Parts: sequence; structure tokens; C-alpha cells
Amino acid sequence: MPVKPLYQIKVLLLVAAMEDISTLDRLAGIDFGTSNSSVGLFRNAAAQLLDVAGEGRSVPSAIFYSTESTEVSFGRQAVASYTQGTEGRLLRSLKSVLGTSLMKEKTLIRNKRVAFSDIIEDFFLYLKRELDAQGRSNVDSVVLGRPVHFVDDDEARDRDAEQQLREIATSAGFQHIEFQFEPIAAALNYESTLNREELVVIVDIGGGTADFSVLRLSPERHASKDRAHDVLGNMGVHIGGTDFDRLFSLHSVMPAMGFGTAVKSSGRTVPGSVFFDLATWHRIPLLYNVQVLNQVQQMRLDAAEPGKIDTLLSVIEQRLGHALARSVESSKIQLSDEVRAGIQLDSGAATLVDCLVTRDDMEEAIGGAVASLCKCVQTGLGQAGVQAQDITSVFYTGGSSSVPCLQYAFEQLLPDAAHKRGDVFGSVGLGLAIDAARRFA
Ligand SMILES: Nc1ncnc2c1ncn2[C@@H]1O[C@H](COP(=O)(O)OP(=O)(O)OP(=O)(O)O)[C@@H](O)[C@H]1O
Ligand SMILES: [Mg+2]
Repeated sequence: MPVKPLYQIKVLLLVAAMEDISTLDRLAGIDFGTSNSSVGLFRNAAAQLLDVAGEGRSVPSAIFYSTESTEVSFGRQAVASYTQGTEGRLLRSLKSVLGTSLMKEKTLIRNKRVAFSDIIEDFFLYLKRELDAQGRSNVDSVVLGRPVHFVDDDEARDRDAEQQLREIATSAGFQHIEFQFEPIAAALNYESTLNREELVVIVDIGGGTADFSVLRLSPERHASKDRAHDVLGNMGVHIGGTDFDRLFSLHSVMPAMGFGTAVKSSGRTVPGSVFFDLATWHRIPLLYNVQVLNQVQQMRLDAAEPGKIDTLLSVIEQRLGHALARSVESSKIQLSDEVRAGIQLDSGAATLVDCLVTRDDMEEAIGGAVASLCKCVQTGLGQAGVQAQDITSVFYTGGSSSVPCLQYAFEQLLPDAAHKRGDVFGSVGLGLAIDAARRFA
């Protein structure tokens, strides 16, 4: 075979490098989170997070459909439009709808009944537009993060949820779609920082789910495509920050609106379903209709403490459910650093809710959930065939991993391990980009 001249080899290498770059340009990882989403991609041969619409590397998974104009806003802008009092509908925690019966239902937006899948697709189109706007118009291959279980204890519905997300991503314009467990993506991100082998538990506690993986990680294994042997166990449960919000709200706020109070001249308490919906992010929009208003008005007539139900009625009539949930969430986050916080809700001149809460209140409210998370890890370690003392490190990601009583509980569970925190909002998106490069490049 004739030997190629040096300049030809250089051209070939250049073409190969350009092909490599264009392959990397065509792939991304998307962490569609219950509360926040991020998009991972490769720039200068390193995994990075897309700055989405100049709002940052992680944006709220939120959509706002204005009814004052044709405007649809996303992310922080969606939350801001809602908070500034623009008339319209805010939708959050949409991931929680995947795999549930709500996916078959439609919700009223601008007097039209719209399927939840179309709303989630709007959010994916927004992320795709952002990729396009930053010169990645040819991204066709994507690894989507998924929780270990979208739906607990129901494999069929869990498969439905993944299929629904696949169809949404396809409609949004992606052609090659793969899924990766979110904690494994976080593990790939953590592994890129290691200089020796470790047996690691990944703890990813986000807005909707808590996911755990037990893996063997090392710099040598990082380059390998097939990591099946290194994953000793995955476990997950549908408990996350939005559940903490719900439990905290039911424990500390809803009683002042009548939750748990008596029905007049009867030993019963008022029905709880409206309170549960009001305390649950993705169910709040279901309260804004005439039937629910009639139901609450009836509750008021029957209630032993009608003044409290008046507050509930005002919150629903004035569509302040998300504003209340935001205040509950803010004080929960504040209680990760401080021991006291306030929960307020104002409507014009009137104050509807004004209560002081403590870290003890929060811990009391979420204690059962934290115990369930510990049990899930213990079961998972057993299934993975490892003892607590074998674990080298615990790597935390996800916003809810910042809750102090949760960290304390995990430190008790795995006392010999080093407990480390990653980029709580970015590890999964970065790991998904690493995974996309392994699969598609
Ligand atoms: N400092 C904090 N203390 C407690 N909770 C926090 C803190 N910061 C954020 N959170 C909570 O973290 C959650 C969001 O975390 P994250 O963005 O990791 O979730 P996600 O990826 O959207 O959800 P999931 O992975 O479950 O789909 C929210 O419930 C938020 O209230
Ligand atoms: Mg997450």
C-alpha cells in the first residue's frame, strides 16, 4: 500500500476531528426534572450545561399560558409572569403526571381543553429551541434521564410513563432517544472527578422522586461503554421535595384553613381531598372550577369553624394555590439553613396566611417520608449484596438532598463512608451528556 504524504494524513485527521465534533454537536442529555430541568452537551470536548434562555444552567420545569395575550412563557419567566399577577395558567411538576391517569385527561387553557402530553411537549420544544438558538440546530440524539421508578410498584404504568416521554421527545424533534437512570447519570458525573476506585452510593433526591444507585466507580472504568457489571443496584421511590412541601403544608398551614376540623354536630372532620390537592403542586390547577367552589361552599355551611373555610375559599377563588405552595416551599428551603421561617400569603390588603414555622415542625411533618427513604436504601444495599461498611462514599445530588435531617439520617445509616455533595442541580444533566457521548458518538 502506498504511504500517504504527511499533508494528506493531516487533512484526514482534521476531517475525522471535524466529524467527531459534529457528532458531539448532534447529541445532548436532558434532565427533565419535576421541579427543575437542565440540558447537558459537549463543548470543547467537555460536558457542560446549556445556559437556558439566559436564565441559568437549571431552569424551573414551569410553563405559563397567559390569558391576557398569546404569550407562553417558560422557566423562571413563567414563574415571574404568574407571580407578577398576569392572568393565565401556571403549570409545574408536570413530570409527576407521566404514567398517571391524568395523562388521559385534559385541562382547560385559554378556554380550550389541552392534553397534559401537549403541555409537556411545549416544554421540550422550548428546550429544543434553546439548543437551536445556541447553534445546536442539528441535535437529533438525546439521552433522557428517568427516575428508577416513575410510578411505584406498577411496572406497566412505569413503562407507560417512559413511552409517553419518548413520544413527547419524538414529537419535539429528537430522532434517537435513549433513557438513563438519573442516579447513574449523576454517578458518571461524579466518576469524572475520581482518581481511585470507590464503591459509591448515589443519593439523588429531587422534587418528585428519590433515586439511589450502588456502583463501582473508577477512572479506568469511566471510559468503558458497558457499565452493567459496575451497577450493583438501583432503587427508587416516589418521594421528593414536592412531597415534603405537601406534608409540610398539611402539617403546618392547612389546619388554619380548616383541614382536620370538625363538621358541625357530628364527630366527623371536613373532607380532606381539597386540602390534599391544594397542597400538591401538580393538582392545584384541578381546583379552579365551579364544582370545587360549590363543594367548598357546602363545606363552609357544614363546618364547625367556618371562618377557617373562608380562608380556603378565598385562596381557591383568587387562584392563589401556587403562591401558597411557593411560600411553603421557600420556608422549607430556608429551614435547611435556619431554625425558624415564616409562611405568608397576602391578597391585596388582606393577609390570608401568616404563620411562624420551625425546623422541628418540618422534621415532624416529613419524618415518615425520611424513614421510608432510609428503608429504601437499606433494602437496596441488601439487594446489591453489600454491607453498609463496604461503601467508600455517598454522593448527594438533587435539591432535596440539602434537608439537614435527611443528611443526618443517611450519615447514621452509612457511618463509615465519606459524604460528599455534588452540583445539586447539575450533576444529572452533565452525566446524561457524558452518557450521550458514550452511546451516540
Ligand atoms: N436548600 C434546600 N433545602 C431543601 N430543599 C431544597 C433546597 N433547595 C431546593 N430544594 C428542593 O429541591 C427540589 C428540587 O430539586 P431538583 O431540582 O433536584 O429536583 P428535580 O430534578 O426537578 O426533580 P426529580 O429529579 O425528582 O424529577 C424542590 O422540591 C425544592 O424545593
Ligand atoms: Mg432530578
